[in-house]
Amino acid sequence: MKPLKIGMVGLGRLGKRHAENLALRTPGASIEAACSVVPEELEWAQERLGVKNLFGDYGAMLVSADIDAVFIASSSAVHAAQAIAALKAGKHVFCEKPMGISIQECLEVEAAAAAHPKSTFMVGFVRRFDPSYRYAKELIEQGAIGEPFLVRSQTVDLDEYAAFQVGFVPTSGGIFMDMNIHDIDLARWYLGDEVNSAYAIGGSFVHPEFAQVMDADNTCALLTFSTGKMADLSVSRTAFHGHDTHTEIVGSRGILKIGITPVKNRVEIFDSFGARKPCVRDFYERFEEAFRAEAAAFVECARSGATPIVGARDGTEATRVGFCLTESFRKGRIATIRR
Ligand SMILES: NC(=O)c1ccc[n+]([C@@H]2O[C@H](COP(=O)([O-])OP(=O)(O)OC[C@H]3O[C@@H](n4cnc5c(N)ncnc54)[C@H](O)[C@@H]3O)[C@@H](O)[C@H]2O)c1
Repeated sequence: MKPLKIGMVGLGRLGKRHAENLALRTPGASIEAACSVVPEELEWAQERLGVKNLFGDYGAMLVSADIDAVFIASSSAVHAAQAIAALKAGKHVFCEKPMGISIQECLEVEAAAAAHPKSTFMVGFVRRFDPSYRYAKELIEQGAIGEPFLVRSQTVDLDEYAAFQVGFVPTSGGIFMDMNIHDIDLARWYLGDEVNSAYAIGGSFVHPEFAQVMDADNTCALLTFSTGKMADLSVSRTAFHGHDTHTEIVGSRGILKIGITPVKNRVEIFDSFGARKPCVRDFYERFEEAFRAEAAAFVECARSGATPIVGARDGTEATRVGFCLTESFRKGRIATIRR
């Protein structure tokens, strides 16, 4: 089989990691072109990965580069438009989360994906590719905890990234769309159900600058699903110990807990500060293996025609819930989800 020729879109904090994975570690993938609005990032792609076809304009890349697929890791606000344009140009599409920051634009992506069934379309809900999260899914499918009815999940980042995250809010869709979206996707995936109401509270307890952009640095959210199942999701941007993503799935005959203590590895330090375990620092350190598996899965699906485990509908539903949580947080009342 010929390698999948990819146009990389966005070469920022995450795009560079994806580009390295695709170019250096993913069998059957080849980066033929790269697009970024930041000239230094294009220079990086040329120097680090030897990419020759460089574009500051996405439309120009779609028209003139010899590519089969685009791998979108640009700002969230442009994901949907870029995904739709690529589908219309006959390309396979990997789209980072969130698929879009409004429900309407997600519905338009979904329609474009349905209209181009030969193009593979996948959304970057990376936790579904993490070995522990996948194993939990297998256990649920085997009936290991009976019927799952509650997901508790949190996404927690180190406080030192808060200054960067404030600048990210205008294009990311805010804390629920940017961070909780992973927990929302997991809750839908594990409970096998759709959300019908959402309630969120939060505040800017450590960094008042988040309140100035109508966002928060710590939030709590409750979801009810159509069958009455529940999710309890939280986010913090102000941790001091490390990146602390963890999840529990409660079922009628047992509970699964994934990554409750965010240990870096199996080393414990015994010294004058006590007995302790080092933590993972950031999302990439925690999910590096999952990011590689995700890239490999997209390339494999695009080359073989297999259907990805996470598609456009998952992208829409997660944004729908993220959007309703944002509304609930800003208006101070429960949001009912309409489809
Ligand atoms: N899956 C995850 O866990 C995860 C983690 C971090 C970020 N992300 C997502 O990845 C995306 C990028 O995040 P980041 O942290 O790398 O952001 P970043 O700000 O560091 O990088 C954004 C990139 O987008 C490019 N860009 C912006 N507008 C563009 C346009 N019109 N055309 C082409 N390129 C454009 C910029 O040049 C830059 O390279 C975001 O959507 C974010 O939600 C996902």
